[in-house]
Amino acid sequence: MSCISDPLALDVGGMKLKVPVVIASGTWAYEAGMWADDLTRHVGAICSKAITKDPCPGNPGCRIWETPSGVLNSIGLQNEGIDRFIDCRLPDLKKRGVPVMLNVCMQSAEDLAYMMDRIAEAGDMVDGVELNVSCPNTDHGCMSWGVDPALTAQATEMARRRWDGPLWVKLTPQAPDIPAVAKAAESAGASAVVTANTWLGMAIDTLRGVPVFSRRVAGLSGPAVFPLALRVVWDAAGAVKIPVIGCGGVDGPDSALAMIMAGASAVEVGAALFGDFKVLENVHEGLLAAVERWNVASLAELIGRARRA
Ligand SMILES: Cc1cc2nc3c(=O)[nH]c(=O)nc-3n(C[C@H](O)[C@H](O)[C@H](O)COP(=O)(O)O)c2cc1C
Repeated sequence: MSCISDPLALDVGGMKLKVPVVIASGTWAYEAGMWADDLTRHVGAICSKAITKDPCPGNPGCRIWETPSGVLNSIGLQNEGIDRFIDCRLPDLKKRGVPVMLNVCMQSAEDLAYMMDRIAEAGDMVDGVELNVSCPNTDHGCMSWGVDPALTAQATEMARRRWDGPLWVKLTPQAPDIPAVAKAAESAGASAVVTANTWLGMAIDTLRGVPVFSRRVAGLSGPAVFPLALRVVWDAAGAVKIPVIGCGGVDGPDSALAMIMAGASAVEVGAALFGDFKVLENVHEGLLAAVERWNVASLAELIGRARRA
């Protein structure tokens, strides 16, 4: 990770972020209006919705359930598949002037090999890959890779063999041993780890007496998970030398700065966008204010500040 010129600009695992704030996968639409400069100038990159090898319809039934301090989701990887994404959607997204990370999610090793070959063929069209070994909303694969250090290493190594660009590996907070999984990703060639995806939760429809979601469980995110995600960032940052990207419940400048002081080099923002897009501007301005308040030349100097206290 190296500092560029602007006080917030950072190279984070090969991604040159003008602002170390990234829109989390699955929480931003592809419609052009959402990519207008007044919103996107506050972010360094946008993660795509998860992309699978084949088109995926997503889960039946209820997909979103609000809770008092967050949201449960069970979207189930609805997407158009890697071929259509690269051939039809990516050329349009590339014209919008914001780096795009492809969030890649696989059921099998063969799926991953196919997707990474397509990504490598696409060359400069792809700014970076976020390898998703952490989606809890499918019965096939995905999170089962991310709970196990050996499988995380296997997936990362397979992706790295085919693609030499920025490779962020998005971990699951459900992994029993976060440092071990983060280290496994690092030694297999990850350029950064993202901590983390959603936490397994559930809801019951008490009028009908049934689980709300067709798969019973769903992924919890938003303010409720922030202290949990902060601890995961702390643990991962203590275990690896590659950058850690903090994700989970970031909803303003304070939570973003806490992630950074715990050791994150950048943050991802997801569920908070469902309440107010202005969170992006608030975080951006708040991080600039923190540089002044702490009287440092760049935000990079505050990374891990709380670890040195
Ligand atoms: C509606 C919704 C869809 C999501 N889809 C994906 C996805 O496709 N891939 C992924 O890696 N994470 C996905 N996530 C997880 C987010 O990217 C993020 O890791 C998580 O929500 C925690 O961040 P937050 O508390 O800021 O939302 C999704 C989250 C939500 C709320």
